[in-house]
Amino acid sequence: MNVLVTGGAGYIGSHTCIELLEAGHTVTVIDNLSNSSLESLKRVKQITGKDVVFHEVDLLDKPALAKVLESDTFDAAIHFAALKAVGESVEQPITYYHNNVTGTLNLCEAMANVGLKNIVFSSSATVYGTPKSLPLTEDADTPIEEVTNPYGRSKLMVEWALKDIHTSDGDWNIALLRYFNPVGAHKSGLIGEDPQGPPNNLMPYVSQVAVGKREKLSVYGDDYATPDGTGVRDYIHVVDLAKGHVKAIEKLATKPGVVVYNLGTGQGYSVLEMVKGFEAASGKDVPYQIIERRAGDIASCYADPEKAKSDLGWQAELGLRDMCEDSWRWQSQNPDGYKQAS
Ligand code: NAD
Ligand code: UFG
Repeated sequence: MNVLVTGGAGYIGSHTCIELLEAGHTVTVIDNLSNSSLESLKRVKQITGKDVVFHEVDLLDKPALAKVLESDTFDAAIHFAALKAVGESVEQPITYYHNNVTGTLNLCEAMANVGLKNIVFSSSATVYGTPKSLPLTEDADTPIEEVTNPYGRSKLMVEWALKDIHTSDGDWNIALLRYFNPVGAHKSGLIGEDPQGPPNNLMPYVSQVAVGKREKLSVYGDDYATPDGTGVRDYIHVVDLAKGHVKAIEKLATKPGVVVYNLGTGQGYSVLEMVKGFEAASGKDVPYQIIERRAGDIASCYADPEKAKSDLGWQAELGLRDMCEDSWRWQSQNPDGYKQAS
């Protein structure tokens, strides 16, 4: 298939480009490089030996977007492009809603204008708010008032907008993929997560402590109702996640209408289990201190991944050891991320 990938220079997007190319698909990337570097796509080529067509375009620039859509005939779009920093979204709600919601509407409009009506959307487990029961199945409630920040609400708003688009025009096929906690990096150590400034998420922070860039990890609370008191999450290797997208575009080719899948492993790990796993994989100490809970955090969150398994034939194959070893290979080979290369 000929696939348009928005946000393809980013963390999950660049890993997905590799899996698409290796599965024999062709790829065109749109990215405004606001949170990424072209170096990631150079490395995609280094890993696969295949080219990606790249357009430096912002989804808010409608004429430029239309030009890209008119430049080729695509079979499906995978839509990663979004701003994703939870704290920043609280400070800058207009920017976040505009980028994530308006950006998606612009994309859908440009797609509809050329008759392209197959889209995979990067949603998030954050849409479930505080889980009523675990593991989370796709039919669990997604109450917007329980989603604690504009970033999360932008994901839920886009889910609803896409469902409404399908209601208005049944030719659309839409896969809403709710990711749990993506971590890890490609086995080559050439691409990985490259956060700008202090990382907000656990695993990049742990990696930066292990490599000596940061002194110690702050663990946000050890008084949750979990086995060791620290938060439990469903960490999923980014390469497994990327493979889920290849399955999703294949599913869209069967014209399923709107489909929703959790992409997780079904296994929860605590913060302290992740720290221990990382120490074992890296051979480095990860000093930490326990501090107060972070506002908006929940105790536990993990997926029931059965629906993706039965419907898509997809399941996560890589475990905690791979997640930690691969994060460490990327971090230790690229202590300053893509910066040192550019
Ligand atoms: P990322 O920031 O690495 O990638 C997003 C890419 O989109 C970046 O390359 C950025 O430059 C680009 N972009 C942003 N706004 C754009 C715009 N208006 N026009 C063009 N390009 C734009 O993030 P990621 O971790 O790879 O996340 C990819 C998607 O998955 C996002 O939609 C994110 O919300 C979602 N998601 C991520 C996580 C996670 O923990 N990483 C969890 C759940 C969902
Ligand atoms: N944590 C720490 N210290 C840190 C960072 C995180 O103790 O420095 C803890 C958190 O309290 C939580 C766990 O590690 O218990 C995971 O936190 P992350 O910030 O890595 O991930 P979240 O589950 O909070 O959220 C992430 C993304 C969201 C996304 C969600 C579900 O940031 O955007 O996963 O996919 F919606």
